[in-house]
Amino acid sequence: QPLVLRTVAETAAWAESIRRSGRRLALVPTMGFLHEGHLSLMREGLRRADVVASSIFVNPTQFGPTEDLSRYPRDMEGDLSKCGSAGVEAVFAPLPAEVYPPGYQTYVDVEQVSQGLCGARRPGHFRGVATVVTKLLCIFRPHLALFGEKDYQQLQVIRALERDLNLGVEIVGMPTVREPDGLAMSSRNAYLSKEDRQRALALSRGLSAAQSLCRNGTREAPALVGAVRRELEAAGLREDYVELVDASSLTPLSVVTPGQPARLLVAAFVGTTRLIDNQPIGG
Ligand code: PAJ
Repeated sequence: QPLVLRTVAETAAWAESIRRSGRRLALVPTMGFLHEGHLSLMREGLRRADVVASSIFVNPTQFGPTEDLSRYPRDMEGDLSKCGSAGVEAVFAPLPAEVYPPGYQTYVDVEQVSQGLCGARRPGHFRGVATVVTKLLCIFRPHLALFGEKDYQQLQVIRALERDLNLGVEIVGMPTVREPDGLAMSSRNAYLSKEDRQRALALSRGLSAAQSLCRNGTREAPALVGAVRRELEAAGLREDYVELVDASSLTPLSVVTPGQPARLLVAAFVGTTRLIDNQPIGG
């Protein structure tokens, strides 16, 4: 079982002792209810560093007032034993008041890359993510931190804040881990009924369809986006967005151009559950 750290002070002291011993420290921030996607980040951390730490914190500032903060799935006991099996040495699992004590008033706003996509659909979401990730990087001061491409815009937001604030942490992005049938793993998949779990496959199926189209020479955004929309419609899912964007700036693209990495991103509601997925395309 990993060491469980509840306060900022003991966490910072623990991380400092690791660094002072000359060992490389990797950090994997999470909101818990861990699955293979999270564990893949922890295992890669162990390959790239001497010690891996994680955080399990359902961060209230990244949830909108009508979102699923209060019902977000939790399983601290199960999560700690998964962390232990993945080789995680310490887990920071604070209460909200430890992270945001009375008088808390400082937020991190990453401007451009937070704006479209999930940023447009979830006002304030990336401000909350950027704030808590900045705080975690300051508390642990790890040599590297690992994040999943599953949350592709989040990864670009974190790359930007690390660079702009000169945090000196290597940000590592890791590929999306999928179920055998293609569904991107997500803690929120726990919300899905058996029927909705099947309908949710439309996201990954749509992205794959668009990727095949692109390989066969279709380069225009409307055609590629249309291929994803068709799958969402066929499954009866409500689209939140489907967009073709530049893979690093996330600005919209009208066409896939050889030599310019592009990414196709989708968000859709399966009943009341909002799911996201994305794929590189062309390039
Ligand atoms: P959470 O959704 O728990 O995800 C924690 C990390 O696991 C993120 O970097 C996310 O991209 C990654 N991840 C989730 N599903 C994945 C999958 N199927 N394959 C690969 N990686 C996956 O993302 C958050 O928490 C929070 O916003 C956080 C960064 C912790 C800030 O609160």
